[in-house]
This record gives sequence, structure tokens and C-alpha cells, in this order.
Amino acid sequence: MAGFREYKIGSRLFGIALGGSMTITLFFPSINIASVSSTDIALTKQLSVGHESGFNLDDPFMLGKNKPLSVSLKVDPMTNQPIDGGMQVYVYEKGTSFPAGILHPRILGEGIQELSVQQGHVTDAQKNVGAVFTLAKGTYQGKQYSYIDNLTATKGWTPADVMRVAKDEDVSDAGKGKTMFIREGCWWCHTLLPEETQDWQVFGAPPMLGDFNGESPTAFGSDRKAPDLLHVGSRNSSKEWMMMHFFNPRLVQPHSIMPRFDYLWGKTDADGKKIDFAKWRAEYNDYREGKRVTPPDVPSYASDSEIRGLIDFILSLK
Ligand code: HEC
Repeated sequence: MAGFREYKIGSRLFGIALGGSMTITLFFPSINIASVSSTDIALTKQLSVGHESGFNLDDPFMLGKNKPLSVSLKVDPMTNQPIDGGMQVYVYEKGTSFPAGILHPRILGEGIQELSVQQGHVTDAQKNVGAVFTLAKGTYQGKQYSYIDNLTATKGWTPADVMRVAKDEDVSDAGKGKTMFIREGCWWCHTLLPEETQDWQVFGAPPMLGDFNGESPTAFGSDRKAPDLLHVGSRNSSKEWMMMHFFNPRLVQPHSIMPRFDYLWGKTDADGKKIDFAKWRAEYNDYREGKRVTPPDVPSYASDSEIRGLIDFILSLK
């Protein structure tokens, strides 16, 4: 009989623990995620990366298709007049899927949502036409917010207008690059999440909750075997260094364990010439064995190559 009493006590304690934890979970959430406003970082990330950069039906093989381009605009595409200080715009060619904040402005947060819909006309954006977006500043109920402005609706700028005046060096393919970052598994070794420890001093400030509104997927990383990359573009903004490091990390870090990503160059270089990887590696081995004084040059990359997107993405991590 004593055993039965213990069973009763045990089951009551179990009930109290379960009920208590369910009550806390259901009725006392510590934070209501829907009430977190997007930071400028979240808005910029959404506009530059676009819709979903992991596996999805728009890009089943994760080739970086269906992505916007970030353009640093120097002249007004309508008047051809220079724009003072330039202007950052995000070009969604016809057929490109829009990010979560355009499809569901509610996730942008109070004030940003209202301004983006009422002044920015984001809900007028049409996928079968394409659209150009930018970040604008506005006031809602006496408070200042950044919001998303659909320039196609508010100024009549089409993707074609913007791309006509944009030079290749003003264009960043960071959206495609984030798909590369995920597909290539950079996150097995690298994090995008400095933590609130001594990390601050080395890798920079940790992100804020509102930095992630609408991002899909986030790429925090698993455990860290390599430097955190959230602010890598502020430490090192050299395209040339990135090219050497991705082609073969040992060119710049002799004992690096990072794999080479030379195949992201594709078959041909910037001039359309076939890249001879076997020759390059043979010359590199001669260099390692001391038979050459300098390593072979890293080929220039084509403007639509996968490595271009990846480098644009890494350098956009400021
Ligand atoms: C096997 C683990 C591993 C993988 C996978 C890996 N890396 Fe690295 N990475 C490292 C290590 C270790 C370092 C530090 C040594 C060096 O610079 O090579 C590094 C350094 C870097 C740096 C320089 C960091 C700094 O603080 O300056 C960048 C940028 C970088 N990696 C990007 C990438 C990207 C992008 C990918 C995916 C395409 C990737 N890495 C995949 C291990 C890895």
C-alpha cells in the first residue's frame, strides 16, 4: 500500500510541474515576437537577400536564382542627373519573389508597417512586373522610422530603368551569395553570431532581436571552428584578399583548414577564357615545394559567377 501512496504523490508532482510549465509557456511568454520592430539591418537584409535563401521551390538546386540585385545608384534613372551622395536601391527583376516583409508587412513592426504600406506602397508591388525598393525615412504618430519605399509605385522607376544606368561595379549580388553561403556549408565552421562575451572585442557587437525580422533562413552557424563573420566586411574589405582566400585559403593563411572554393569560379574567367584548374594546381604545388618564387595568379571571376555573389555577400557583412 505504501507504494501506491508514493505513486499518488509522484503523479501529482508531475501534474503540477507539467501544468506549471504549460501555464508559463502559454500565458506568460517573456516576449511577443510580433511586437519586435525591424531594425534597419533587418530591412536591408530582406531587401538585399529577397525571399528565402535556403532550399525552396523557386530555386530547388540552390543556384542563387530568383534573387534581387543591390545597386548603389549614382544618377537618377529618369533625368540622368547625379544623385548627391548616391542612393542604395534593390532591384527585383520581373518574376523575382519578394521578401517576407513585402508579402506580409505586419512582420515589419509598428510604424514601419503603416509607413511601408501607406507611403511606400509596398503592397502594390507585383511579381510579374518587378519592382525597385529603397529604405526611406518617415514619421508615424510623432516617431521616426525607416520604412520600405516601392520606388516603382512612388517614382515610376522600373528595374530596367535602374539597370540601364547602373555600372557593374555599383551592383552587388549579395542575395545570390547568401544562398552560396548556405549551400556550401560555410556555417559548419563559421558563425554569424558574436556572443555577449569577450567576442565583442574580437568579432564586434552581437546582433539585436529585430535584426532578424523576415530573414529566412537565419545562418547563426552551429559550433564555431573559425572566426565569426557577422562583421567581417568591416575588418577586411579587400576583394583581392577574398579572391585569393576563396580560391585557396593557403595562399594567404598557410595553415588554414578552410577548404578551397575554386569551383565557384565556374568554367570560365571574366574574359570568357576557360580556367585551367589542373595547370593552376600544378603551378601551386611547384610554389609550395619551392620550385617557383610566387604562386600562380588567381583567375578573375565572371560577373555572373557564384563566387561573385559569395564575395559580394561576405563584403556586405559590415
Ligand atoms: C572546415 C572549416 C571551414 C569552412 C567549411 C569554411 N571556413 Fe572560412 N575559415 C576557416 C578558418 C579556420 C579560418 C581562419 C583561417 C583562414 O583565414 O583561413 C577561416 C577564415 C575565413 C574568412 C576570413 C575571416 C576573417 O576574420 O578575416 C572568411 C571571410 C571565410 N573564412 C569565409 C568562408 C566562407 C564564405 C565559407 C563557405 C564558402 C567558409 N569560410 C567555409 C574555416 C572554414
